[in-house]
Amino acid sequence: MVALARSALPIADDVDISTFKHDVLKGLGARRKHLPPKYFYDAAGSQLFDRITDQAEYYPTRCEMHILQDNAAEIMRLVPAGAALVEFGSGSNKKARILLAAAPVLAAYVPVDISGEMLEREADALQLDFPRLNIQPVAADFTHEFELPEEAKAAPVRVGLFPGSTIGNFEPHEASSFLRNAAKILGPNSKLIIGADLIKPTDILNAAYNDAAGVTAKFNLNLLVRINRELGGTFDIKSFEHHAFFNRERHRIEMHLASLKRQKVKVAGECFDFRAGETIHTENSYKYSVESLGALARGVGWQPSAVWTDAKKYFSVQAFTMGPKG
Ligand code: SAH
Ligand code: AVI
Repeated sequence: MVALARSALPIADDVDISTFKHDVLKGLGARRKHLPPKYFYDAAGSQLFDRITDQAEYYPTRCEMHILQDNAAEIMRLVPAGAALVEFGSGSNKKARILLAAAPVLAAYVPVDISGEMLEREADALQLDFPRLNIQPVAADFTHEFELPEEAKAAPVRVGLFPGSTIGNFEPHEASSFLRNAAKILGPNSKLIIGADLIKPTDILNAAYNDAAGVTAKFNLNLLVRINRELGGTFDIKSFEHHAFFNRERHRIEMHLASLKRQKVKVAGECFDFRAGETIHTENSYKYSVESLGALARGVGWQPSAVWTDAKKYFSVQAFTMGPKG
């Protein structure tokens, strides 16, 4: 079978360097130092994330894959023939592959990711396994508005897929904005399938973000490696340590990088002072209940239509629909 020729990526850019610099200087200059988690995903960070998903302690990927495998046919009944499937934060396409195997003929599959290099490589690999699928990757930051390819815009309906609990990496108000933006991008009568990690005992959550092999620590510290390389930073990686813990009051895992000593660090010519023990807050990973995600979505016009969970109720896949007015 001959693979479909894919058109060139609409935007081949990875992260815009001036935005990266602006966000890093702003975050490090704040009273409580912080950095946006979307910058984890350079080429090395994307590979490290993939290694995290193989760690025994990191249950979310395994749980979500099981849910998708067990319910693929039912989930795909939400996707009419001729629809476009748009995946936000597609990464290695692991989840989409399960659904695509059960999908009707689609107008297009549109993986969207900020990590441009990985996006192209994974789209090529997917095309080999799904030669008749029209794959239209878009390298974009999904926290901003972006254009869908023409075939996806022309399809009678668009279905969004947002797996991996990436929604949990937003603050709740950012998650609302994302859901509003997704409704605008997908248009009237669209559907949205979201994978969301659920609240569970603290020891299981803490272990998932503190794997024994230290892969999550490496993923976290890689952000400093990236700043050194791309913004002329002087971070001494060995004098920072990975911290991750569940904040039960706020229903979120917090990841930080803690300075092991008093030190000064330069980034893009600016100097930042660190106290011993001071941290850079690098990520939140909010954990939802079926009800709390449903309420958030309903607040911006998405009506909950179906929920699938695993037997232990560790993870959920939730479907939402948008009305005819969008
Ligand atoms: N969906 C995959 C990957 C999850 S990791 C899975 O379920 O395993 C999160 C993915 O979202 C990464 O591939 C990362 O590059 C992408 N991502 C994170 N923030 C993003 C943003 N603001 N815009 C676009 N992609 C983003
Ligand atoms: C992509 N995202 C949902 C992951 C999470 O679990 O919040 C990122 C991650 N951070 C540390 N481990 C995995």
